[in-house]
Amino acid sequence: MHSSIAETLASYPQESLTRKPTPLHPLPHLSQELNIDLYIKRDDLTDLAMGGDKPRKLEYELAQALKNGADTIVTCGSSQSNHARLTTAAAKQLGLDCSLILSRDEHQSLQGNLLTVYLMGADVEFVDVEDHWDLEELALKRCEELSAQGRKPHYIPVSGTTPHSCLGYVSCGLEIVEQMQAKDLEFDAIYTPFGTGGIFSSLLFTLRHENIGAKIQGISVNRDQKTCEEYLQKWLLSLTELLSPPSSPPINNYSIDDAFIGKEYGDPTEAALDAIIKMASSEGILLDPVYSGKVFSGLLSHIEEGLWPKGSRILMLHSGGAPALFAYHQQIKEHLTKRGLHLFV
Ligand SMILES: Cc1ncc(COP(=O)(O)O)c(C=O)c1O
Repeated sequence: MHSSIAETLASYPQESLTRKPTPLHPLPHLSQELNIDLYIKRDDLTDLAMGGDKPRKLEYELAQALKNGADTIVTCGSSQSNHARLTTAAAKQLGLDCSLILSRDEHQSLQGNLLTVYLMGADVEFVDVEDHWDLEELALKRCEELSAQGRKPHYIPVSGTTPHSCLGYVSCGLEIVEQMQAKDLEFDAIYTPFGTGGIFSSLLFTLRHENIGAKIQGISVNRDQKTCEEYLQKWLLSLTELLSPPSSPPINNYSIDDAFIGKEYGDPTEAALDAIIKMASSEGILLDPVYSGKVFSGLLSHIEEGLWPKGSRILMLHSGGAPALFAYHQQIKEHLTKRGLHLFV
């Protein structure tokens, strides 16, 4: 490895939860159809309980939990939270208990992610909240209750983003740089989801510190652009504190687009469902309606607007989420029918 960021990163404790590197490969059929050179980074293929971005984040966060003597991981999310699935899996792999506060919502069927958390033996409590990103208070109350019972809880906020968990996507950024060098590749842009901004901010930070100038394009799945920018500044600050890089390159050439959220977080927009169908039927890769389908719908829309002329080389980070597809089967069925497919189910 190369940079001083890599050296400082290596000094942080890490629990191994997945094989790395994940594949980075071209998408030949879509490249031809879209007139660009499209690549994908397969973080959906991390090998913990159906994969996604969380194993990388949890490798660093759970190392902190173990260092502090935790015996129970407490976290929160929506009823179809990928984070709940992967935090439960990681906790079980490390011999810890997992307590989940999940929001009641329309996808609360025993399907997809929710089915897996029950299978893996998480302790699940459902609560009514307006916005599942406001569950923090209840999760912290659960921590107090567990402490009163003599347990040692470790709280992880929604989406698993913390200063230490961001180190997982610093590591991913370094991995992408190595793959670019090995394949002699440069990208005009890298597309990522923007939820709490852990992935986006850490990749942006790392690529700039590695002198890679590709535009980093976030597609917001939840918050407006201004709020995303506030999250970004927060994570950039905490990464600078943790990694104390010797130089401070300009953090430029990025953009966060909040035009693809739909009505709210998790809304399976027509554009996201079309994007899912396009990726699946062209390349045999499954996206999801909450994160990766939205990212690809953003990229497709930008190409249509003429943002990426013929021959532009773009990398899309696939952060996982496909297990949630199954909880959206009704909307997907309606959409496929609308697009003229005759389903015999
Ligand atoms: C599949 C998937 N992609 C992306 C994200 C969002 O990542 P971040 O919060 O780091 O922006 C999540 C968060 O739960 C997720 O489950």
